[in-house]
Amino acid sequence: TRVPPPKNEPVLSHAPGTPERRELQAVLKRMSGEQIDIPVIIGGKHIRTGKTDTVRMPHKHSHVLATLHEADASHVEQAIQTAMSVKDEWARMPFQSRAAIFLRAAELLATRYRPIMNAATMLGQSKTAHQAEIDATCEAVDFLRYNVHFAEQILSMQPENAPQTWNMSDYRPLDGFVLAVAPFNFTSIALNLATAPALMGNVVLFKPSSTSALSAWYIMELMREAGLPDGVINMLPGDGPTVGNPAMASPLLGGIHFTGSTPTFNAMWRTVGENISRYKQYPRLVGETGGKDFIVAHASAADDLEALAVAIVRGGFEYQGQKCSAASRVFVPESLWPKLKPRLQALVSEIRMGDVTDFRNFMGAVIDEKSFKRTSSYLELAKDAGQASIVAGGTADSKEGWFVKPTLVQLNDPRHRILREEIFAPVVGIHVYPDARYEETLREVDQAASYALTGAVFARDRKAIDTALRELRHAAGNFYINDKPTGAVVGQQPFGGGRASGTNDKAGSALNLIRWTSPRTIKETF
Ligand code: SER
Repeated sequence: TRVPPPKNEPVLSHAPGTPERRELQAVLKRMSGEQIDIPVIIGGKHIRTGKTDTVRMPHKHSHVLATLHEADASHVEQAIQTAMSVKDEWARMPFQSRAAIFLRAAELLATRYRPIMNAATMLGQSKTAHQAEIDATCEAVDFLRYNVHFAEQILSMQPENAPQTWNMSDYRPLDGFVLAVAPFNFTSIALNLATAPALMGNVVLFKPSSTSALSAWYIMELMREAGLPDGVINMLPGDGPTVGNPAMASPLLGGIHFTGSTPTFNAMWRTVGENISRYKQYPRLVGETGGKDFIVAHASAADDLEALAVAIVRGGFEYQGQKCSAASRVFVPESLWPKLKPRLQALVSEIRMGDVTDFRNFMGAVIDEKSFKRTSSYLELAKDAGQASIVAGGTADSKEGWFVKPTLVQLNDPRHRILREEIFAPVVGIHVYPDARYEETLREVDQAASYALTGAVFARDRKAIDTALRELRHAAGNFYINDKPTGAVVGQQPFGGGRASGTNDKAGSALNLIRWTSPRTIKETF
């Protein structure tokens, strides 16, 4: 290969006294004191539309971090024209030159931008320093470096030849623009949604989530500084349908790169369906959506109960349960429950929650008022004594920030709403099953939820593991054996799920990048 073989970016500890901690604290202080004005960005031009929204700190919602200018249909139109006007030149740029821009972005992010991107993700999205580091720096750097490597693998996939013929695959970009729609919860995902299609020679309309617009702004700054030509990625913050609908009504729509909720992605498919005869080509629809990610313990997990307890707490409560991969339904055999329950209660009682700039806190706040209210309604359900009993937590407090206590709820009915519906907050449902009903429980796990993103099985008995792999074959796109279901690493665990969890085009692998190409087969006869 021509590009350096990638390695995963090492996670810096930010322990007291480390230089990275000092640098991060300085940037946190500066960023908390400024109020950035985030524009619409089209062709490198900053457009202050005047229709504004505010970006607030979830853990201190009176604190406005930034003002955000929202795009409307006219900006979408302008962005499409601008993107299409730079498309040919971008696509014709030699791959090595395009790749260099993304590798340079990775270097910048691993160094000077590291504390900036971590601070923006901590303040705007309420991640702890560690959660910001593994997302906004490490995973984002990994996406940039590995995608170049994957792209090179794709370009080298060439057909066979025969006497007097030369066959070639020409990996063209799509014949249109790509609409990238990002969620609030991962800065790295937002970056990947916009940059992966661009690397393959496409032009992009990037709609960040308004709540994470601060880190989205720094993604644009990073890419500009790395040398990405103006107009290749255009940023259109604003209301989803206001930005998305005109983009999806354009005959030039080449594809959608989406991460977010299942209902939103479903609505986008419908809109694409309605417009289907207008398009110049069938748009590529690539989406990662919701999850109801499971942990199933088998009785043989008794050998290492601590690993199971830690997986439930970390998988369920890191980043306030707002990872699409977060553990949110747990199935425990009766024989383990008497010891596991007090251990979980002890671990949860040690969790510190609060302002993420206090490095002792393990959890921050949920993203916004809407999420807080939705979660509060599930906490009400958890108080229904006939059906549910709260094992830990169960309260929420919105005075300063959108804080939801890490909550474990035991449910008698394996099909209780708390065990089926995505809550996207630190609320974990637990169902205790008779040891002899392990296989039935696996089938229940498979059938009860419509999602299939991640899942984990804890067992030492090899047969129990094999049974879980078989019964849960389609219940998770990422399946973990004796580990928590979160924290996929680019290049190690390609990420994505099926069923209502998405199109399973595996972010962090060549399978995703190939979707942003439209290969042309060329046969030359000599
Ligand atoms: N990739 C993340 C994880 O595995 C979730 O989006 O936790």
